Amino acid sequence: MYPLRRNRRLRANNAVRHLVRETILTPSDFLVPLFVVEGHGVKEEIASMPNYYRLSLDNLGKEAKELWNMGLCAVLLFVKVPESLKDNKGTEALNEHGLMQRAINSVKSACPDMLVMTDVALDPYSSFGHDGIVANGQILNDETSEILAQMSISHAEAGADFVAPSDMMDGRIQIIREALEDEELTNTGIMSYCAKYASGFYGPFRDALESAPVKKDNIPKDKQTYQMDPANRIEAIKEAHMDVDEGADIIMVKPGICYLDIVREIKDEVEVPVAVYQVSGEYAMLKAAAEKGWLDHDAVMMEQLISIKRAGADIIASYFAKDAVKLMG
Ligand code: PBG
Repeated sequence: MYPLRRNRRLRANNAVRHLVRETILTPSDFLVPLFVVEGHGVKEEIASMPNYYRLSLDNLGKEAKELWNMGLCAVLLFVKVPESLKDNKGTEALNEHGLMQRAINSVKSACPDMLVMTDVALDPYSSFGHDGIVANGQILNDETSEILAQMSISHAEAGADFVAPSDMMDGRIQIIREALEDEELTNTGIMSYCAKYASGFYGPFRDALESAPVKKDNIPKDKQTYQMDPANRIEAIKEAHMDVDEGADIIMVKPGICYLDIVREIKDEVEVPVAVYQVSGEYAMLKAAAEKGWLDHDAVMMEQLISIKRAGADIIASYFAKDAVKLMG
């Protein structure tokens, strides 16, 4: 006997598929990462991230307007700091006329309603390429958190709507929250990279900012003492609870595709929005395969983005944001 229930009825044509579709991507799902450099008229393609660029402040303003007109209303800023300004403590991060502080201003001047989030970590400013201060072969936790708090105040004063600590030091969300409150920056939000894994997928990003850990004796060669072990899931839930308790408004899982089980578990556990960062290596991987003609770029891109949202992402940070929105038509 034929089955009474035939699931293919709901797949028969575009109209019915659209009617029953459970997950829909919209431009407002996206947070657009942007790389900023010194100079004027600069738009340099990043070698390991085809069709993605480092922008000088003038072009950053133009880009912000273009994004806004496409319905992309939130950006996440990263800066490439000249080698000469790097030191162990990331002193330049606190310069009120520093590149990040000016970048925030450029975006807000060009596009006042754009939501601006800023990366908070020492690595782009660190002469060792680490997210914290290095001493005796260790990354110092509490001393680093104090600087991150100062950095957050500086970004907030420059006009950032949210600060996004990506360093994975313990206790830094509380320290940053308290510091912002003390300065009466009560409206500045915190998006915490709460489950950030020690991943091989960050390579192209470190090319973009020339921020990879240096290879030197007594300097940890990777970030495994602060970023999470890809083997762990219960630890991610613990991190999520702790960051929410410490005052995070939004929490983030990173990278994306390999960690969608974590996204779902965290989404089911907490009551704050969950962001997912589809990172540089994920972008590079698809670009490379598509360039060789081995994968259909647009189809795989949309499949990955919809999968991230289906897994529970309220916000998707992705280098594909513009490409995806163009396809949405
Ligand atoms: C820095 C930071 C990294 C990324 C975001 N913030 C790199 C790292 O931790 O080494 C990676 C983003 C990407 O790969 O797209 N703290």
